[in-house]
Amino acid sequence: MENIKQHIHSLRAEIDRHNYNYYVLSAPEISDFEFDQKLKELQDLESKHPEFFDPNSPTQRVGSDANKNFMQVEHEYPMLSLANTYSEGEISDFYSRVEKALNEPFEIVCELKYDGTSISLIYEKGELTRAITRGDGTKGDDVTANVKTIRSIPLKLMGNDYPEKFEIRGEILMPWNVFDALNKEREEQEEPLFANPRNAASGTLKLQNSSIVAGRKLDSYLYYLLGENLPEDGHYENLQKAKSWGFKTSDATRKFDNIDDVFGFIKYWDVERKNLSVATDGIVLKVNSLRQQKNLGFTAKSPRWAIAYKFQPEKALTKLLSVSFQVGRTGAVTPVANLEPVQLSGTVVKRASLHNADIIKSLDLHYNDMVYVEKGGEIIPKIVEVDKSARFLIGDTVQFVKNCPECGTPLIRYEGEAAFYCPNEAGCEPQIKGKIEHFVSRKAMDIHAGSETIEHFYSAGLIHNAADLYAVKIESIMNLERWGEKSARNYMESIRQSKNVPFERVLFALGIRFVGETVAKRLAYSFQNIDALSQATLEQLTAVDEIGERIAQSVVCYFSDEKNIELIQKLKNAGLQFEIDEKILSEKTTKLAGLTFVISGTFSNYSRDEYKALIEKNGGKNVGSVSAKTDYILAGENMGPAKLEKAQKLGIKIIDEEEFLELIDNP
Ligand code: IVH
Repeated sequence: MENIKQHIHSLRAEIDRHNYNYYVLSAPEISDFEFDQKLKELQDLESKHPEFFDPNSPTQRVGSDANKNFMQVEHEYPMLSLANTYSEGEISDFYSRVEKALNEPFEIVCELKYDGTSISLIYEKGELTRAITRGDGTKGDDVTANVKTIRSIPLKLMGNDYPEKFEIRGEILMPWNVFDALNKEREEQEEPLFANPRNAASGTLKLQNSSIVAGRKLDSYLYYLLGENLPEDGHYENLQKAKSWGFKTSDATRKFDNIDDVFGFIKYWDVERKNLSVATDGIVLKVNSLRQQKNLGFTAKSPRWAIAYKFQPEKALTKLLSVSFQVGRTGAVTPVANLEPVQLSGTVVKRASLHNADIIKSLDLHYNDMVYVEKGGEIIPKIVEVDKSARFLIGDTVQFVKNCPECGTPLIRYEGEAAFYCPNEAGCEPQIKGKIEHFVSRKAMDIHAGSETIEHFYSAGLIHNAADLYAVKIESIMNLERWGEKSARNYMESIRQSKNVPFERVLFALGIRFVGETVAKRLAYSFQNIDALSQATLEQLTAVDEIGERIAQSVVCYFSDEKNIELIQKLKNAGLQFEIDEKILSEKTTKLAGLTFVISGTFSNYSRDEYKALIEKNGGKNVGSVSAKTDYILAGENMGPAKLEKAQKLGIKIIDEEEFLELIDNP
């Protein structure tokens, strides 16, 4: 036993070190595969030996899908903001004020101002005990479970010279590439886009389901230590210590003793920041000595020992030439402004997003207007303002089209939505091609055919819908322009392999509105085959965990269209998987059919996630909160008192692990 305990401990330490190498130093020593193997070994050991559970084990970084309404926690030191300015003159004023007030030599630390969401982390005895958002500055949300999934935040510290208890503050960020990928995915699934990485980071941190947070790949930079027994008098020196304990601190931070160097730093980073992987919006200047900081003190809102210099958001003035309307795979019509080319943040901008009809209206946009475009955090630049004083011969007002620019069908607007749609799904070219592109995409059927190939096949008259992809003959593509035997064989092979793609991905590939990857999985497992799903009623659909009215409506609507049923029949004939694999099904039972469970507390035999899977595997339903519809509460240790009270009031049966396992005859 002692051996196992030691082995678990050394595995944890080893994995923590590899995490640090990878996420903080960006210098991994082992391959991802080796890393995963070690993590798997630890997971196995921990599940066999729950007596060695540790909330800060690296296995706890994967998150849980338990529902949590965040607890409000008071900050020990209020989280103030910084005075900020766009003017270099005010930076000089700040410097002179400090000089005068201190009347002794001092140093200024210059840091990047990271544009994410701020966080306060509490460490006790070298372990992360709490992570709190800024909230209103006095109290914030306890988001510890979510923060634990961020790999660059140490759960246990390295070294031994950290204070017994201290707080460290910093910024949680979503790197640009993660942000771009996330928005792309949201666009495909018709979910609202995040305006910038800051919103994406704070939105992610507030998610109820930490396993989704874990998948979002957030990053962090820490920049401010607080506590009674910090090792050094210098802020800069303390940050270096923090770095040695395993925190990700910025390598850009510098210490200067004159204002010229401060301006040099600002000038350098105003340009260089564009090459960083995360968003920054300025520079923060801080007096280095904590003793001097104390002397300078605070105003009601911010410290007198610090100031933020904000970079000018980049804007450019140019002329609006025309507006095009693009039709996506779902029929949504997006307006795009065509501009006279203009230089902005290192690239030439020719087009800008106009989002929707409401935005065009609120800008009061006319053709030939001089407009300001801004990159901000957005993916494509947007028009932020019209220079009305530059209107000379005023052009026509920009009007949203009434008919589909591709097929002429009158557009419709669904209630509560900003977008206009072309309802001609089956006859509108970009919708047809877009649906096929989605069908072949990697997360769907993974057929080796890019948008060019689809264009090619379509214009050659070979395909009109996804099912046609399976009817394409090798002879007819080998002779297409730029195609040869090899590429034709590759295509045929990927078509063959796609017939093994599991049902849930086939369902996702169909491109039903609002049915993204996760929803497709849920529906596939709940209904098990396409026939059951196609006959499901609104009530049956909304009874599935996390399937709401909007998705249910869309599913019912999809299957009520004859053309879709025809398409599915053709795909069935082609040999695609339209039911859940036998093997997975054979493990399923109906022992808990019709029963609704709420899981609360911590367990020793299985994890919460495993209990959740057991409930679903046996036909039961797992929900987040107690209501009159709940049949059982599966209660572990430390069940939440509010849940307990509510359950007792409603007379709901509370069972423990053993009783639950008996219900499903699990020894
Ligand atoms: S120091 C009392 N340093 O900017 C001062 N803040 O307006 C504590 N921020 O809420 C903040 N980078 O979210 C500090 N290097 C940096 C920063 C930084 C970004 C954010 C932070 C804070 C806001 C201040």
